[in-house]
Amino acid sequence: MTPAIQSLTGRPAWKALEAHFQKVRDLHLRQLFADDQERGERFVVEGAGLYLDYSKNRITSETVSLLLQLADECGLRDKIEAMFRGDKINITENRAVLHVALRAPEGATITVDGQNVVPEVHAVLDKMATFSERVRSGVWTGHTGKRIRNVINIGIGGSDLGPVMAYEALKRYSERSMTFRFVSNVDGTDFAEAVQDLDPAETLFIVSSKTFTTLETMTNAHSARDWALKGLGGDTKAVAKHFVAVSTNAAKVSEFGIDTENMFGFWDWVGGRYSMDSAIGLSTMLAVGPDNFKALLAGFHEMDEHFRTAPFERNLPVIMGLLALWYNDFFKAETVAVLPYEQYLKRFPAYLQQLTMESNGKHVTLDGAATDYATGPIYWGEPGTNGQHSFYQLIHQGTRLIPCDFIAFVKTLNPLGSHHDILLANVFAQSEALAFGKTPEQVKAEGTPDWLAPHRVFEGNRPSNTILTQELTPNALGKLVALYEHSVFTQGAIWNIDSFDQWGVELGKVLAQRIIPELESKTEPELNHDSSTNSLIRRYRKLK
Ligand code: F6P
Repeated sequence: MTPAIQSLTGRPAWKALEAHFQKVRDLHLRQLFADDQERGERFVVEGAGLYLDYSKNRITSETVSLLLQLADECGLRDKIEAMFRGDKINITENRAVLHVALRAPEGATITVDGQNVVPEVHAVLDKMATFSERVRSGVWTGHTGKRIRNVINIGIGGSDLGPVMAYEALKRYSERSMTFRFVSNVDGTDFAEAVQDLDPAETLFIVSSKTFTTLETMTNAHSARDWALKGLGGDTKAVAKHFVAVSTNAAKVSEFGIDTENMFGFWDWVGGRYSMDSAIGLSTMLAVGPDNFKALLAGFHEMDEHFRTAPFERNLPVIMGLLALWYNDFFKAETVAVLPYEQYLKRFPAYLQQLTMESNGKHVTLDGAATDYATGPIYWGEPGTNGQHSFYQLIHQGTRLIPCDFIAFVKTLNPLGSHHDILLANVFAQSEALAFGKTPEQVKAEGTPDWLAPHRVFEGNRPSNTILTQELTPNALGKLVALYEHSVFTQGAIWNIDSFDQWGVELGKVLAQRIIPELESKTEPELNHDSSTNSLIRRYRKLK
């Protein structure tokens, strides 16, 4: 007889957390800090060069112990080992989940179906490096012999968000004589604007798609080929010099007309949203060069090792994942704000949205039962200080609890007068204001009239993490991304969900394929949708 599967909410640690929550839910951070003068030094953890201050969270030492107990009861350690070992933990797709192999050093052994995948990973990295050097040095030229000055990555989801985010984040390290653009949306405006001022003779397209079947990417790739051929006199031989592919699907790449010699491969054990350090990072390598790309991978690897080996109480991704779960499932907070005080990280929240929400937006457990607890919170955010002048009002004085992750760097890449001190003063001030607020007494003591006082009160007790790192280098970026990847893993492991599939994106894709011919048909199509969809289609057909 197979043992009954223990439900998460039936676990002793979960039950203990429920009881504990009733005791601590109204404790104020003001009180917690007043009771423990060392709190700001005790609730910190440093690992792989990142410093995480989690003292401004609504927790006590007991909360942390119980959360760690929950992680143990849920078998987090074994689940981490299973991922690193190459077990097929993505059960609905029967796949291993091995983004950690993408940054494993040469000489490491990680096997999938009995085969060590690390040598293949390094063979692709070497091929990418050779190609990048040829393009960057001008040895690789376009069809007319002109040097490549523009690189356009065509991809969507994980084949776009990682490359865009990394390019923006590492712009300071990029080859400034070259232009890098990213086309993702099937809205023709995206492509039209990306190429409107470019010379096809100097432009290289990277068609990035794991499957090489994604509608948006293939539509954009075909438009790119038409645009390039038109500008290059129609000679189809030009495709070989102006198009390369990044994919797991060699047959489809060839069908499109790209020589598989110019294809950079990866594997089904790399999820789209975990692929920025695979060949999907080709545009990143072209922009920052192979050495910087290697430093990025080394940063990822350092955080991987920290996650795999550090005791949970000193493990950054585990602590962050458990805190996210604490707010999500006990305080019933629905979102997490990610607030980088670093302009180069302006696309980081968008990148994290796919990583976190496509991974943990699941309503059933691994065995298919509906969860009786909330899973993945909504991640969102904008760089500071801009957000302070927009949505922070709601975080400070609104009626919702929004845990925040502040991200800051000790050194700026662009020293300019006192800008950086002002920036850092703001990030420290925000977490202080959120935690401690301003009492009615303080407001009144400032001479505020009674009627106005309630409007000026800050309740405080708004939780936050602060991640402080030395400088935004390629290495630090790798660590930061891996930190969130493994925090997502920690959450998913405890919720007992498949964090590595994405069935929820399928239905819309299928319905769109059905509607496309109905919009394009010359004769009036017979429509069998609901009355709303039918009328929208009719109205569009009439007015277009
Ligand atoms: O539609 C979702 C998705 O499958 C993502 O998971 C993926 O990153 C994206 O589409 C792009 O897929 P592909 O790389 O196969 O074009």
